[in-house]
Amino acid sequence: MTATDAQNQPWWKRGVIYHCYVRSFMDSNGDGVGDLPGLTSKLDTLRDDTPSSLGIEGLWLSPVYPSPNHDFGYDISDYRSIDPAYGTMDDFDRLVACARARGIHLIMDLVVNHSSTEHPWFRQAHTSRENIFHDYYLWSDGTNGKPPNNWGSSFGGSAWEWNEQTHEFYLHSFLKEQADLNWRNPRLREEIHDIMRFWMDRGVDGFRLDVANYYVKDAQLRDNSHKFVIAQPMPGNPSTTLFMPMSREVCDHTVDQPETHDALREMRCVIDEKPGRMMVGEITQRTQGQVLSYYGDGGSELNLVFNFFFFVRRFRAKDFRDIIEQTLDLLPEGAWPAWVLSNHDVVRAASRYRLSPAMAKSMMGLLLTLKGTPFLYYGEELGLANTSLPRRLLQDPVGKRYWPLPVGRDGERAPMPWDATAGAGFTTGIPWLPVSASSVTYSVESADPTSVLSFTRRLSWFRSHHPALTTGDMATIDGPSDTCLCFTRTSPAEHMTITINLSDQTAQIPRGSFTSDQTPLFSTEEHPSIDSLAPWEVRIATTPA
Ligand code: NOJ
Repeated sequence: MTATDAQNQPWWKRGVIYHCYVRSFMDSNGDGVGDLPGLTSKLDTLRDDTPSSLGIEGLWLSPVYPSPNHDFGYDISDYRSIDPAYGTMDDFDRLVACARARGIHLIMDLVVNHSSTEHPWFRQAHTSRENIFHDYYLWSDGTNGKPPNNWGSSFGGSAWEWNEQTHEFYLHSFLKEQADLNWRNPRLREEIHDIMRFWMDRGVDGFRLDVANYYVKDAQLRDNSHKFVIAQPMPGNPSTTLFMPMSREVCDHTVDQPETHDALREMRCVIDEKPGRMMVGEITQRTQGQVLSYYGDGGSELNLVFNFFFFVRRFRAKDFRDIIEQTLDLLPEGAWPAWVLSNHDVVRAASRYRLSPAMAKSMMGLLLTLKGTPFLYYGEELGLANTSLPRRLLQDPVGKRYWPLPVGRDGERAPMPWDATAGAGFTTGIPWLPVSASSVTYSVESADPTSVLSFTRRLSWFRSHHPALTTGDMATIDGPSDTCLCFTRTSPAEHMTITINLSDQTAQIPRGSFTSDQTPLFSTEEHPSIDSLAPWEVRIATTPA
């Protein structure tokens, strides 16, 4: 594949997508909450077509719709406008235009498993069984005043809440303020399609589908086979907890129902009405096979499905190799991977793996050289770790509910550290979450040529100029030692080997081995040695033909 062929691939295949938690990115009016004008003012740092920006291709915004914020935007009360805390529709249009002028594609978060109970649909639906919106939601009489089954909310407790006006329970897979929508209702489906068209007409290039495997629930409301486990320790670092209990084994009647695939196929038809649009889905599951089924037969469902398997494995070459091989082996024909190391729901990789800056570079090296679309969570490019918060400052309902269990998500949502001032350059006011103590070390302004940020920018620039890395094929190979993760990326024009030494020890390269006669093209080291890899070194080399 030549550089031009790579350019002809869809944007969402070839470039880095930046995940911006808008509330924490940049505050323009001093109210302590990040907003759209703030984000627009920082677009040059994301892409300016020089090696001194991150060179992103796509920008995914966490939900910016009006919301009572019980779950910080994941409870939407109006799907067709912008929450005043983030700005106005004009601010949004300006963001789209400024992003587009820089070649950045915009992705909105589409949260349609549930709406806020303050959405006009629910406000009407709950008043009477005869209301025309009643069937937009999921209801049950229950038995003897008790919920109809054992379905649990992902945020704890029963998934059913009593509604006094109609004398029934309504379903909420998350908070009771987030009522599940009835995806068996064709009118509801049409509404969702129209919402997608509304944003596409405004210039939006794609959607990130929240809990996309949750949409349709078992019609007979049968019990799930197991009880929910709310959290499990992260492998390799028991002081951090993975809050992700939503597996098929546990939720056999609430997730992954076959009709959900029909709903996604319909949504894909809407996406395909306009060229260049895409959707990426959040599928939280246990096995690779279940996750990958959401690409759909012949690629008829999601364009991309997040691969979350790095959340649950140790920082070891063997573990990483397993994830990569399983993904590549099981990936359906024509499907394209999407890699994630951190997001707004899990402890940041820097804390999960206790990364030093050198280790953080090796993780950036991995994320940006794998075959597939890299999703970069804001701050990750700095090597930013989680912030720890005292109980009184917690905002996330999950953190509040389970305190002192470390399941809250505020730690990974702290303000972006732009500089070392009190508000981290994020705000002139009081930030909605405290700025991280490590902001001084990790701020954008303090980044020197040896920083994680400089490395990430340099690598992203290098990546964008090498079709083998953007759209080429990939195969894992044995590295010079067990601590090294090694793989090839190939396009017709380029053959590259990527070697990442995931260890604090130097890895010797045996004379005459395949790695010894490669030409280093790119490395974390200024002068990479032919005989060895430095601790944590990321090296990209041309492979002999
Ligand atoms: C998954 C989102 O990523 C998370 O932040 C949210 O709380 C739940 N879905 C409910 O929408």
